[in-house]
Amino acid sequence: MQQVKAVIARAKGAPVELVTINVPDPGPGEAVVKVQACGVCHTDLHYREGGINDEFPFLLGHEASGIVEAVGPGVTEVAPGDFVVLNWRAVCGQCRACSRGEPQYCFATHNAKQKMTLEDGTELSPALGIGAFAEKTLVAAGQCTKVDPRARPAAVGLLGCGVMAGIGAAINTGGVTRGKSVAVIGCGGVGAAAIAGSALAGAAEIIAVDIDAKKLATAKRLGATHTVDSSATDPVEAIRELTGGFGADVVIEAVGRPETWKQAFYARDLAGTVVLVGVPTPEMKVPDLPLIDVFGRGGSLKSSWYGDCLPSRDFPTLVNLYRQGRLDLDAFVSEEIGIGDIEAAFERMHHGDVLRSVVIL
Ligand code: APR
Ligand code: ZN
Ligand code: ZN
Repeated sequence: MQQVKAVIARAKGAPVELVTINVPDPGPGEAVVKVQACGVCHTDLHYREGGINDEFPFLLGHEASGIVEAVGPGVTEVAPGDFVVLNWRAVCGQCRACSRGEPQYCFATHNAKQKMTLEDGTELSPALGIGAFAEKTLVAAGQCTKVDPRARPAAVGLLGCGVMAGIGAAINTGGVTRGKSVAVIGCGGVGAAAIAGSALAGAAEIIAVDIDAKKLATAKRLGATHTVDSSATDPVEAIRELTGGFGADVVIEAVGRPETWKQAFYARDLAGTVVLVGVPTPEMKVPDLPLIDVFGRGGSLKSSWYGDCLPSRDFPTLVNLYRQGRLDLDAFVSEEIGIGDIEAAFERMHHGDVLRSVVIL
């Protein structure tokens, strides 16, 4: 066991606190990772605000990269010294989904079995099974994916959540390929990544839709061919117009609201795909649509959980594309901050001032 500095949310709505936590030595199938960088994500704020159905106190932080310090018995995935990006859940390798070659839908994912604790022994809930606003964290070894150690930790750590969700929504879930038309509604961290992913895949038209001009400017930098300010223009009309009257082959909803999902529904080509990647709240309902409008269209309505990613396949590939200069992960790092500045970073995120603040440890 060792003691390290970490940032926790102790109670609903309370500001985060920098404390000392106990990190157990890794048991069977576990690894202790020395965290190098961890992005500040909306989900961390949701944890702090009590919107997520787990137990306080939370050990926040989950978009991280670092160096494996120690592994427990039986660990073969990684070894001490490996540079890794962390993912939410290790897959089991044996369930129905894993056996049919679709571990991204594994029914029996897991995190570390042992618990990290406060100094008084109170057990912590690590955000998304990671808890990386900490100098060191304990995870399941399968949550660690080895990547090129020459990559910038702050940039590649973001693949652990929002950026992977966006790129994966476009490529893995939406099936964006060369020549397709894509519209992305909501160009925050996730939507901007969906735009970068669409550009990477060779989409012909990439239409960025947002109500915030700053977000549209970033979208353009990441590969959007057109931008639509939906606070001033009807986005459905605009997307149709920009796609020869048809609608886009793939429309990605990256806001997580019924109104914007409805826009996505009507902005797609008759045979197009809608991908919901923005996270709705539990109270939100599917918009009231005439069933005939659902019937009258082919294509598909999908949702994308964690970008349908396979970390072992997708993280190293995307890190290599970044290293080759073909995927601008640096564009997502708005600022590098210290572990004591997370509360202020939540504030900036709330005002839409940053794509990502990244804590450097
Ligand atoms: N139409 C278009 N864009 C909108 C609208 C709207 N009606 N309302 C908000 N937006 C834009 C915001 O201006 C912002 O650029 O959606 C974007 C949301 O981005 P972020 O707040 O940065 O959130 P992000 O990290 O990208 O996550 C997307 O998934 O994890 C959830 O809570 C998160 O719901 C959010 C979504
Ligand atoms: Zn996240
Ligand atoms: Zn499985």
